[in-house]
Amino acid sequence: MAAVKFPQNGVAAGELNKMLQDLKSGDMAWRDARAFSMVFRAGEDVSRVVADALAAYVFENGLSPFAFPSLLRMETEVVAMTADLLHGGENAAGNMTSGGTESIMMAAKAARDYAREKKPGIKEPELVMLRSAHPAFNKAAHFLGLKTVIVPVSDASEVDLAEYRSAFSPNTVFAMGSAFSYPHGIIDPIAEMAAIAAGKGVWFHVDSCVGGFILPFVEKLGYPIPPFDFRVPGVTSMSADVHKYGYVSKGASVVLYRDVELRKYQLFVYADWSGGVYATPCISGARPGGPVAASWAVMKYLGYEGYLRLAAEAMKATQLLMEGISRINGLYIIGSPKATTFGVGSKSLNVYAIGDKMKQRGWHIDSQHLPPSLHFTVSPMHLKVVDTCLKDLQETAQEVSAMKPEDVSGDAAIYGMIGSLPDRAQAKDITTQYFNDLYKTG
Ligand SMILES: Cc1ncc(COP(=O)(O)O)c(C=O)c1O
Repeated sequence: MAAVKFPQNGVAAGELNKMLQDLKSGDMAWRDARAFSMVFRAGEDVSRVVADALAAYVFENGLSPFAFPSLLRMETEVVAMTADLLHGGENAAGNMTSGGTESIMMAAKAARDYAREKKPGIKEPELVMLRSAHPAFNKAAHFLGLKTVIVPVSDASEVDLAEYRSAFSPNTVFAMGSAFSYPHGIIDPIAEMAAIAAGKGVWFHVDSCVGGFILPFVEKLGYPIPPFDFRVPGVTSMSADVHKYGYVSKGASVVLYRDVELRKYQLFVYADWSGGVYATPCISGARPGGPVAASWAVMKYLGYEGYLRLAAEAMKATQLLMEGISRINGLYIIGSPKATTFGVGSKSLNVYAIGDKMKQRGWHIDSQHLPPSLHFTVSPMHLKVVDTCLKDLQETAQEVSAMKPEDVSGDAAIYGMIGSLPDRAQAKDITTQYFNDLYKTG
């Protein structure tokens, strides 16, 4: 039973603002660049452009392109600009969605429905994915009735292409690679993986949710980035999140198809509703106009040159951090990340305990497992905190090296325990119970 009751009387607007600020005071401190996940930020000027565009479209509803033609225009322009960046060619098409998960869900739906039409003999469709792929693929498979075939990756987060090839079966309808992956920032061998999928006549998706708006610029800056976008034959669809390195607030992603004909399989149309013919491109019905307007505005505001400058700053911060961390006794960078995300592992130190101690010093660094590691996604704003971050990491690593295993407590101990449980079904049960309790209303 909910303990909080519906309010009887209203609260004055000024008072509400104060209440909101009080509520926020315990949240993650992202404004001063002490967080390495969750918020991507370019600077105050870009934040203002975002806020103004959101405010201008705060109530507009993207459900109807006829009622709000300006939203239709901005969405198609954002999709076209993204397709241009990712070498989509003139037949490319796509839509804006609420985020990476929805973009991946839409591509998976399109691939499944395409296979339903072209390969009706497949009754139990399968998705071939890597262990390092974002769980949005598992979620899409769960919602869409696809069986996941999960290919392992090495401790350096690399896929064995022979294993990848052997994961395909006559039932495979959707395959993927990441450019780059979230946990360790690894660009999968997209050209080779897409060729394997194409050889088997399977739809291949590149998940560039994090990489889509930074890799093209990192490549332009002269860093060695292997081909990862529509230039690669066999790439059928892509996802790229504007709310990550596009520097827009949450609720903005793009799903792209090599050919506009493929996008048809993504759409939902119901022609027999008493409320009229109903058609939506993505999952949501009503769609907030703000994220569309903000995406359009930031792309216009920064332009290619602006994004290039920001990518140079983010890369500089990343390289300084990776070099500094590699020099800290006991820590190493996992695999060969090529851009602005990386994972930090250790063979001798409890990295979760380092994460906890960094938290006590005001940093927010996520813990990961398989293998145990800390996660860094670096934004341009991190350039100014590189030295303090390295100093704190150095000191906390030293403190942890003096700890005995039984001294590890708190979040680090809990995360370590769940991460290392041999029975993963038990880990799932514990997490389900934990989440159910977390969102309790009373
Ligand atoms: C590689 C990758 N794909 C997909 C997603 C899912 O994106 P979202 O959280 O916007 O749904 C993420 C999120 O971090 C990601 O890093």
